Amino acid sequence: MKIRPANSADAVLLAELERTQPRAAGWGKQGFEGELAQKCAYILCAQEAEKLVGFVAARFAADMAEILNVAVHPKYVRCGIAKRLLQETEQYLKQHKIQTVTLEVAQDNTPAYQCYISLGFKPLHTRKDFYGPGKDAAVMGKNL
Ligand SMILES: CC(C)(COP(=O)(O)OP(=O)(O)OC[C@H]1O[C@@H](n2cnc3c(N)ncnc32)[C@H](O)[C@@H]1OP(=O)(O)O)[C@@H](O)C(=O)NCCC(=O)NCCS
Repeated sequence: MKIRPANSADAVLLAELERTQPRAAGWGKQGFEGELAQKCAYILCAQEAEKLVGFVAARFAADMAEILNVAVHPKYVRCGIAKRLLQETEQYLKQHKIQTVTLEVAQDNTPAYQCYISLGFKPLHTRKDFYGPGKDAAVMGKNL
């Protein structure tokens, strides 16, 4: 499996991969094109043969970054792909003098929540009804 930064030619494949995971952010092709055009954005993807099987998208400014979108194809979950992508994203951010990373995750999204916990993210506070009535978000953070 190859881990590499995504580029503008990957927007279609990233959107296809994102569609396999309804709990991803739902950017679609245009959303990925917009992100890939940003200087302060970084998308790292995992490629198996010709297929993209995972990605992590982050934005950064000054000394802070936010993880905005993460997905691993359902056939490839629990193989350590998200962990590897997030760890390598953290390395990239560190090299760019980023000190703090934050993210939002639905409180009931156990796979994602546990994945972030396993990487040392701590819950900071709760955003009530962030994803709709009764659907709270946990804001999590980590110092690099
Ligand atoms: C969340 C997601 C990205 C995890 O990807 P993954 O590649 O399966 O994660 P990893 O295999 O790297 O797992 C890392 C750790 O996360 C935790 N984890 C992952 N899936 C889990 C699950 N189903 N239940 C409990 N813990 C889980 C475990 O601690 C795991 O470490 P372990 O396998 O050594 O126990 C994937 O499930 C996904 O795409 N979900 C839908 C999209 C989504 O929710 N995005 C995040 C929105 S904030």
